[in-house]
Amino acid sequence: MSRKKNTQPIPFSEKMIHILNAGALNLAMGIGYQTGLFDVMDQMTSPAGLPDIAAKSGLSQRYIQEWMGVMVSGGIVEISTDATGTDLFYLPTEHGDLLTRSSGSDNLGVYSQEIPLLTMCAMEGVVNGFSTGEGISYDHYPRFQQFMTELANAKHMEVLVNCFLPSVGHGKIIKLLSQGIDVCDLGCGEGVAAILMAEAFPNSRFTGIDISNEALNTGKANARSRGLINIEFIRQDAAKIKDDPNMAASFDYITAFDAIHDQSRPLDALKSVHAMLKPDGIFSMVDIAAQSSIQGNMNHPMGQFLYTVSLMHCMPVGLMDNGTGLGMMWGEEKAIKMLGLADFSHVEVLKIPRDSFNLHYFCNK
Ligand SMILES: C[S@@+](CC[C@H](N)C(=O)[O-])C[C@H]1O[C@@H](n2cnc3c(N)ncnc32)[C@H](O)[C@@H]1O
Repeated sequence: MSRKKNTQPIPFSEKMIHILNAGALNLAMGIGYQTGLFDVMDQMTSPAGLPDIAAKSGLSQRYIQEWMGVMVSGGIVEISTDATGTDLFYLPTEHGDLLTRSSGSDNLGVYSQEIPLLTMCAMEGVVNGFSTGEGISYDHYPRFQQFMTELANAKHMEVLVNCFLPSVGHGKIIKLLSQGIDVCDLGCGEGVAAILMAEAFPNSRFTGIDISNEALNTGKANARSRGLINIEFIRQDAAKIKDDPNMAASFDYITAFDAIHDQSRPLDALKSVHAMLKPDGIFSMVDIAAQSSIQGNMNHPMGQFLYTVSLMHCMPVGLMDNGTGLGMMWGEEKAIKMLGLADFSHVEVLKIPRDSFNLHYFCNK
């Protein structure tokens, strides 16, 4: 086995300083996103002083001041002074375009909350896991579903109905959805994707399936408040559906958005999808764009971030109940192999318009 040479262009001491600063900056940006400070600053068309920003955000001026120190030294916010020597702060438009709730599918700011949130939920459990090899249950991630919904909102709102679905089967799915078919979203979480689809295609019938009652209750309430009558939510363990004759051959189209790799029995979940599809049914599995080996992901632009999210959440929840613990970076090769083992006759791996994070595994029963 050959050892890779260290080809880093900068000394490791400098790299370490960069790592410490970037980690700290990410935490402070997560706070800026969560408190809505980026949204407030993005609305300000000219540099503003701390009292103004505090008044517009309704937040403590002293906390904002300390936070501003991180933002300015980190190159996120620009600083200048007015005629009286008072500091003024400005979030450049091109930064705001990636950091606010109105950034839509370009919203990278939402992800700045992810590592701090996972650290809060699971640092101790993961450190223990290194000794015990045990998994961590979903109960340890109380804000997780809410956060996933924020991500889902950022991801699905613009892309799902207008870009993704029209690309499936070169327009075939859109046509069928408009005519009226039975659709299931597996691992639906709080139902953001299923609700968007149900709203856009009133002639079709939608079923959101998830194992989390909490998530499903939120989904049900959201669907009700929008007056949707073509959607229902069912609590099921995806791995067990394959043995339920009542669910066999029930759906024309099944989607799973980032919902297979977290499961403790992912192969059984894929077999369930196969069983739930009608004979000419289609399955769209949308999952992280990665290779299956560490070497294959060395140049992945988000490799460190995604492996850390997997270490802190996807792998440990997937290890529960002696589970597989696939992890988020299970990658294309393993995904294709498992879809084959689940008996799908044809699998195509496709890029998704305006979503470089994920791949679309287009599968025929
Ligand atoms: C990463 S979230 C994705 C949620 C949603 N599809 C989205 O795009 O935001 C994974 C979802 O899978 C669900 N899940 C995990 N294990 C499951 C199982 N065995 N059966 C059904 N759902 C499961 C979780 O509760 C969670 O809502």
